Amino acid sequence: MPESLTPESIAGAAYIVAALLFILSLAGLSRHETARAGVGYGIAGMTIALVATIWVTFQGAWDRPGTMLGLGLLVVTVLIGGSIGLWRARIVEMTGMPELIALLHSFVGLAAVIVGWNGHLDPPALEGSLADIHHAEVFIGIFIGGVTFTGSIVAFLKLSARMKSAPLVLPGKNALNLGAIVVFLGLTVWYVMDSQLWLLVLVTALAFALGWHLVASIGGGDMPVVISMLNSYSGWAAAAAGFLLNNDLLIVTGALVGSSGAYLSYIMCKAMNRSFISVIAGGFGIEAPAKADADLGEYSEIQAVDAAEMLKGASSVIITPGYGMAVAQAQYPVAELTAKLRERGIDVRFGIHPVAGRLPGHMNVLLAEAKVPYDIVEEMDEINDDLAATSVVLVIGANDTVNPAAAEDPGSPIAGMPVLRVWEADNVIVFKRSMSTGYAGVQNPLFFRDNAQMLFGDAKERVEDILKSL
Ligand code: TAP
Repeated sequence: MPESLTPESIAGAAYIVAALLFILSLAGLSRHETARAGVGYGIAGMTIALVATIWVTFQGAWDRPGTMLGLGLLVVTVLIGGSIGLWRARIVEMTGMPELIALLHSFVGLAAVIVGWNGHLDPPALEGSLADIHHAEVFIGIFIGGVTFTGSIVAFLKLSARMKSAPLVLPGKNALNLGAIVVFLGLTVWYVMDSQLWLLVLVTALAFALGWHLVASIGGGDMPVVISMLNSYSGWAAAAAGFLLNNDLLIVTGALVGSSGAYLSYIMCKAMNRSFISVIAGGFGIEAPAKADADLGEYSEIQAVDAAEMLKGASSVIITPGYGMAVAQAQYPVAELTAKLRERGIDVRFGIHPVAGRLPGHMNVLLAEAKVPYDIVEEMDEINDDLAATSVVLVIGANDTVNPAAAEDPGSPIAGMPVLRVWEADNVIVFKRSMSTGYAGVQNPLFFRDNAQMLFGDAKERVEDILKSL
């Protein structure tokens, strides 16, 4: 091997290739047509990264005691972790994807905490300002990792309905969050000057508590933003671990995930009319809703046969699908209904809310799966002004995304969130199983309007009933 070609330089070259593949992967994932290739780049990049890291770690250490044991442990761990990951990813339902992602983020956070602790217990031989920098890295890494860890666990619990989605509103919650940050800064300075173990215990507990509180304080409707925010935090946690492990690829990858997650959170906040700062600061400025459930009056019901008659007489129909369509897997009969109505010369279009369902683009994927033509699937902003001139709107398993309280009730927890203004149409038919609330846990006044009628039951069965009547 030429002298300049050291194991480290070869691994460094492999890391550059892997980093480029990760960038290509992110670029690919941003469009439907290139998403599959994007995933392929990601897998290739990760394989190169893993092989290069393992190779450079064990290079030249074969005759050292413990090497084979270390390598054996590593292989067994990768096999166990990889198998569990493969199994979970294979069986996860589309609707369960966000909670799986939240759980995976928690692992990144926990890993950063463990790497930080390792940095303290097995410190590199450094002196002077280099040692100070190392101490700061340990402390900051543990803090970011700890916040990500418990924050992601709460997100997982909320998304999987194991914990109530309503925001936790502790008295003086903003002061608590701010206080935690100030204490962290103070402890960091202390630890850099005097690296005592008890300070690490304290910062770990503080980060765990802050992560839990930050996400618990955010209400159901804002969870999409929280997931992308935790995605960003997990990136920064990985970057912090990269500094500690002296691994350039981990720093680059962490920064890529951190910044793209932050940007995604920013875009989502804009789309949902939320303050970015408020969301990343755990619902800063959001107070508990002032009033309890008001009496919204009576609702009226419709049967599938009558809904079919109403559709026959319509000139234009807009379908606004939501999470319930995904749960019922109603997209196939919905696509069939669309085709039947269009054959009769009725103008049918879809209105898609940016956070309908449980992950970005959820509804678009379902409709594409059922072969609904792309050109009749429109975004909320494109279709909102047309709703007033529409004969019938079919709200299929959507709730928060069509809630007039967001536009009309400043005291509502989802106040200010843009919604599909379905109530402006001549007639609205709401497909759902009961009068229960949507994900944000807020009652929907739409159901009680004079032009709205409830079609109760499983969305798939009810759409099939309409198809039979047609
Ligand atoms: P939701 O507000 O969640 O309402 C879905 C409705 O579907 C429920 O009211 C439910 O009522 C009904 N439903 C459930 N299963 C059904 C079935 N088998 N047949 C018929 N109806 C069924 O839905 P949405 O309007 O799509 O709003 C999405 C919510 O999730 C927003 O609050 C959003 O912030 C949040 N969220 C979104 C994301 C992303 S990125 N999209 C991620 C996390 C959270 P019944 O129980 O009465 O049937």
